Amino acid sequence: MNKEQILEIRKEFPYLDEDKMGRKIVYFDNGATSQKPKCVIDALSNYYSYENANPHRGAHYLGMLATEKYESARETVKSFINAKQPEEIVFVRNTTEALNLIAYSYALEYLNEGDEILISIYEHHSNLVTWQYVAQKTGAILKYVYLDDNHELDMEAFKSSLSEKTKLVSLAGASNTVGAVIDVKEITRLAHEVGAVVSIDAAQLSPHVRVDVQDWDVDFISFSGHKMYAPMGIGVMYGKYELLDKMVPYMYGGDMIEYVYEQNTTFAKPAAKFEAGTQNVGGAIALAAAIDFMERVGVENIHEHELALTDYAYKKMSELEFVEIYSTPSYNRSPLVSFNIKGVHSHDVSTVLDTYDIAIRTGHHCAMPLHGYLKQNSTCRVSFAIYNTFEEIDFFIDKLKEVRKVMGYGS
Ligand SMILES: Cc1ncc(COP(=O)(O)O)c(C=O)c1O
Repeated sequence: MNKEQILEIRKEFPYLDEDKMGRKIVYFDNGATSQKPKCVIDALSNYYSYENANPHRGAHYLGMLATEKYESARETVKSFINAKQPEEIVFVRNTTEALNLIAYSYALEYLNEGDEILISIYEHHSNLVTWQYVAQKTGAILKYVYLDDNHELDMEAFKSSLSEKTKLVSLAGASNTVGAVIDVKEITRLAHEVGAVVSIDAAQLSPHVRVDVQDWDVDFISFSGHKMYAPMGIGVMYGKYELLDKMVPYMYGGDMIEYVYEQNTTFAKPAAKFEAGTQNVGGAIALAAAIDFMERVGVENIHEHELALTDYAYKKMSELEFVEIYSTPSYNRSPLVSFNIKGVHSHDVSTVLDTYDIAIRTGHHCAMPLHGYLKQNSTCRVSFAIYNTFEEIDFFIDKLKEVRKVMGYGS
């Protein structure tokens, strides 16, 4: 996309409006959460202004309208990830809840002592602590695949870790720290060969690349709306219908039942079986608006622009001898660069950059085992979205040099 097109897209984001905000903000913390375009904010506001009712319940106009809008949002998500049927789309709060749902409703039920769960060292805690719990409860063994020289998943190690004992492979489609992306289709093919179920944490994938669950043949996918231009509090757990159908509910209560007797209950079919209680209807509608936004811009255009930005940032940062980079050098990666400035704590880097209105992320990025593996207590991370520009990266590079000076290192 050319500069003018990106500048047009920026206008859709109130947060990036310099006049309204009174300053020029360089927002490089998109891996944590993206900013929201006006069409998404309007969709949420419109729902609460004119469409608000509890879906699947009231036999009145607004109740039916809310039901229609909520189910239409499910259809939008279904098409977005190319699921076979809308019943495979379960609305949850976020990726974390989606992974917990898989853990409680599938893994705790179907995994046994000695079974193996295979994850990588770069998993976010939500795709790691969850499986520690499952392993502790079931007696299953949690196995890790480590990194190759490019800080990507070591594919040879992955292949040799697979065996008929592997019952679940749960990997981030894209790492939030080293930026590595995996070949989901190939990983799934290999895992299926040994009979394992595949769950992909797509939190850092769905905002950037086209997700195609049928082409990839994955069993589960989890992602959060807030990282892909939608509000917080809405996310998706996709599961193949055959799996969802045999899984037990995660939560119990209203709207997930078929018949309730005094001592027992029969449950609704998926996805309702997993959506107990009043749902985040406004969030689902706004997620559909975010998807419409992404489709209008073009998911492939988003991907291409973000890859170009990341490549540019990576190269510029590599030229600075005081910067140590931990993210992969591969062109095809998650749009982020993780790094440290030699001799400077990451929080100091962030604090100094903040004085120039540059927002970056620092810390362990909810990936403590990875940081242990990298022998770093914490790292800095810049992460990009469709509205970021090459000029912002130039400004950031300039100010990175300032950080050195502020911290007393000279030029
Ligand atoms: C790879 C990955 N997985 C899972 C999560 C958790 O997402 P959420 O906090 O929206 O549940 C994140 C959040 O940063 C992430 O980057």
